[in-house]
Amino acid sequence: MKPLVPDYIANLTAYPPRKPIEEVEREYGIKGTIKLASNENPLGPSPKAIEAIKSHVSTLHRYPDGSCYYLKEKLAGRLGIPKSRIILGNGSNEIIELIVRAFLRAGDEAVMAHPAFIVYQMIVQAAGGKNVILPLKNFTHDLEAMAGAITGKTRLVFITNPNNPTGTIVKRVEFERFMKRVPEDVIVVIDEAYFEYVSDPEYPNGMDYINDRLVVSLRTFSKIYGLAGLRIGYGVASEEIINCLEKVRQPFNVNSLAQVAAMAALDDQGHVDKSVRINSDGLSYLYGKLDGMGLSYVTSQANFLLIDMKGDGTKIYQELMKKGVIVRPMGIYNLNNYLRITVGLPEENKRFIEALKGVVE
Ligand SMILES: Cc1ncc(COP(=O)(O)O)c(C=O)c1O
Repeated sequence: MKPLVPDYIANLTAYPPRKPIEEVEREYGIKGTIKLASNENPLGPSPKAIEAIKSHVSTLHRYPDGSCYYLKEKLAGRLGIPKSRIILGNGSNEIIELIVRAFLRAGDEAVMAHPAFIVYQMIVQAAGGKNVILPLKNFTHDLEAMAGAITGKTRLVFITNPNNPTGTIVKRVEFERFMKRVPEDVIVVIDEAYFEYVSDPEYPNGMDYINDRLVVSLRTFSKIYGLAGLRIGYGVASEEIINCLEKVRQPFNVNSLAQVAAMAALDDQGHVDKSVRINSDGLSYLYGKLDGMGLSYVTSQANFLLIDMKGDGTKIYQELMKKGVIVRPMGIYNLNNYLRITVGLPEENKRFIEALKGVVE
């Protein structure tokens, strides 16, 4: 019988499902579990966003504004660019899909790093594209190698900056050197899901490059704005690129509560500042404690930390879960000895360290 799908679909691995906290608690007979696994904002959504959502629930019988008119207007004002250069999506994940749908045909190549955000590989493969994957160097994108891997078939390059799961960044000098080597017809996607957390002054902000050439900057309301559950992100690029992406999206891809919440969150700078502060304090605390335990980690520019457990990460992940602390094992990224933990509230970070001590010491 003819196969239902081509091999490139059959060989895909579904994104691994995670157990809800309630399930973990029931299984282990515990209470008060904390989740430091998905790089979410431990402070929750901006209170202003919550208010905006509450006051709009009675309009849910209406379709959303398919053009995200007011949100685009607000973002455009913030970024100092025309509205026509912005696209909104059902999370920035959807925009990755739109980019692949619009610009990559079966057999075309996409260049990316590994370990980096795993979703690029899945989407490119699902479209029949070829993933050209370059290993990280010192936990950082090896832009020299990535530029060298570009061929006549390359349509897209993905750069995760800061990178997930390592928290590292590529710096301005190396990024600009890389861009000089990229041919005119290759689209460079800079995934900046965590850019608000970056403190390194050598960080190349994607907005400084969107006028240069075929650059797309991807951003999200899922991280610093604490709106992951609503699914909303955006892309900024040339009008020409955005026009192509608009043609391949669904008419109402961003729901109405996400739109009003995102607008309110943009107006809550206090929440953003507090989120940045809690994160940098949390990272300093974790660095100090891990140093004290003799565990090494990759210094992070994001809201998570990759830690070398010097042993089977999956086992330690399971032991931590029994103690009510959910983190992320890294087997999917071939980093079997590592765990990635999201920086939490001060009491959550403390709880993680105490649980970790109980497991490894
Ligand atoms: C690097 C990176 N890009 C994009 C995303 C997805 O963001 P969104 O929730 O906007 O789809 C994530 C989520 O973890 C991420 O780590």
